[in-house]
Amino acid sequence: MAADAGRAAGAQVTHLELADFDLPLYNADLEARGTPDNARRLKEIFHAHPAWIICSPEYNGSYTGLLKNTLDWASSPIKGDPEWSSGTKPFVGKVVGLLSASPGALGGLRSLSHLSPLLLNLQCWLTPKQYALSKAAEAFDDKGQLISGLAQAAVQGVVEQALHGARKLHAPD
Ligand SMILES: Cc1cc2nc3c(=O)[nH]c(=O)nc-3n(C[C@H](O)[C@H](O)[C@H](O)COP(=O)(O)O)c2cc1C
Repeated sequence: MAADAGRAAGAQVTHLELADFDLPLYNADLEARGTPDNARRLKEIFHAHPAWIICSPEYNGSYTGLLKNTLDWASSPIKGDPEWSSGTKPFVGKVVGLLSASPGALGGLRSLSHLSPLLLNLQCWLTPKQYALSKAAEAFDDKGQLISGLAQAAVQGVVEQALHGARKLHAPD
């Protein structure tokens, strides 16, 4: 839905499933033996995209370990590689819209309040609009589309703000 909204607004969209990158659990001793190719690939993809939408479920009132692990790998400098010596390089100036979804009544809203400061710390810009989809198990039809027009409009609003922000921020002077 978010990817479709981005395409409808004229963006070239790359849809990532973080689990597909199959990154090991980050720790510095492991990293000292070499950065996984997929961590480098993620850095390149993040860096190449001026607007992002992050959509995640909520675990124990926060964002998931998978998302944290991905952000940890993507923000860790690659030792001995001058191109990626700055951990924040993939993140600086990205305009990020946040979406969550969960079967609960709050739709993962609490996870967004934890994720926001992490992304700000990495020098991302966050859209003023965010959206938490409650009762997510019943929210989609059998084609995977959101049933509620209000929910569709809310997702579209976040996507449009991210694109608008990125176009303004990255416009030539
Ligand atoms: C360990 C764990 C903790 C969870 N904590 C929350 C929570 O705090 N709030 C919530 O709304 N849902 C919570 N859930 C429900 C998940 O949001 C729900 O299972 C969701 O569909 C998981 O998506 P996934 O299968 O893509 O990881 C939790 C699920 C798990 C496994």
